[in-house]
Amino acid sequence: MTTTKIPVLDLADLSSRDPMVRANAADAIRVGYGHFGLLYVKGHGIDPTALDAFYDSYLEFCAKPEADKRRLGRDDLWYQRGWTPPNTEQAVVAGGQPDFKECYFCAPEPCHRRDQTLYPQIYADNVWPEGLPAFRDGMMSIGHQLHVIGLQLLRGCAMALRLPEDSFAKLTDNGPHVTRSLRYLPLTKDQVGGDILWGEEHTDFNLLTLLPGGRFLDPSGKTCPKPDDKSGLFLRTRPTKDHPNGELVAGTAPPGCIVSQVGQQLEILTGGRLLATPHVITAPGVPGYSRLSMAHFVHVHTDTVLFPMEAFCDEATVRAYGPPVLSGTYAIKTLVDIALAPKGAIDKLGYRHYDRLADIRAREGATR
Ligand SMILES: [Fe+2]
Repeated sequence: MTTTKIPVLDLADLSSRDPMVRANAADAIRVGYGHFGLLYVKGHGIDPTALDAFYDSYLEFCAKPEADKRRLGRDDLWYQRGWTPPNTEQAVVAGGQPDFKECYFCAPEPCHRRDQTLYPQIYADNVWPEGLPAFRDGMMSIGHQLHVIGLQLLRGCAMALRLPEDSFAKLTDNGPHVTRSLRYLPLTKDQVGGDILWGEEHTDFNLLTLLPGGRFLDPSGKTCPKPDDKSGLFLRTRPTKDHPNGELVAGTAPPGCIVSQVGQQLEILTGGRLLATPHVITAPGVPGYSRLSMAHFVHVHTDTVLFPMEAFCDEATVRAYGPPVLSGTYAIKTLVDIALAPKGAIDKLGYRHYDRLADIRAREGATR
C-alpha cells in the first residue's frame, strides 16, 4: 500500500442504511487502522467549547503549587489516578530518558468491587483536587463521551473485519478504561535541540485510544498555532517494501475531527490485521511553548486473554503474538516497563506462598 492519506470516517456512516456508505466506512477503517494504525473521526459530537473550558480548568490545576499537586501524585496507585509529575513515565525504547510532561488520570466509567480487589491500582477510585469542579466534571464528561465513541468505532472494526458486531466491544465491559490529561512542558533555551522528550516513540498498550485534539500555548500562556513543523504528534505507518521502516506522518487532525489510534490489545486480537501505531510527541525547536492534550484509553477487561481471535489464528500469528497472556497481568508488566509501577509489582504475579513451606521446614529444623 502506498497511500499517505489518513482516512476520515464520519461516525454516522457506520450505522447508515445505505450498504455502500457502510462499505466505504469499513474501507476507511481497514486502511486507517490497518496501514496507519490511526483514523480521523468526524461527526463525533464532542463540543469544542466544552473541551476548551476543560483545558482552561486543567491549566488552573497545573498552576497550583507543586506541594498541592504532589498530594495527588499517587505512586501507590502506579499513577493510574491523580497527578503524574514531570519526568516520571518512560517509553520502553527511551533508554531511561523520561517524558517531559505532567499528567492527570481518571476513570470516567464505574469500576467494580471484585476488579478493585484483584487490581487495586488499575481499578482505583478517582482522586480529585479540591475546589476545581470544572476540572473534575469536564474530564469525567469528555472521557465518557470519548468512551462511547470508542465503542462505536470498535463495532466498526468488527464490521470491517467481517466479525459479529460486538466481537471487540463486548470485551471492554467493565474494563480499566482511563482518561488522561497531559501538559507537555515548555523547554528552556538550553533544552531546545537537546535530549528532552515530550513523548518518546511508543505504541499504546490498550485496545483503542481517542484524542479529542490539543492546544499549543505560547510563552505568554496564550493559545497559539503549532510553533513549528517539528512539534506535535507524528506516527509511523506500517512498513512496506518501499518503506521498510514505515513512514513518519504528522497526525494533525483536519478541523472538526478527533484522532483514534489502535493499541497493542487490538493488534494482538486481530493477529496484526489492525496495527498498534508507533507514535511520538516531539517538542518544538523554540523555547517557551507548551501543549495541552487529552486522551481516553479503552481497554479490554482484565480477565480477557490476549491472543489472536479464532479468525486470525494461524501459525504466523501464533508465533508473533503467543503465548496467550491475561490482560490484567499484561497491564501490570507494561506499567512496570514504562516506569509507572515499581519493579516489585511483577513479583506479585503467580504463586507467592513458598514461604509457607520454608517456615514449616525451619520449624522442623528447630525442633530436631
Ligand atoms: Fe500514546
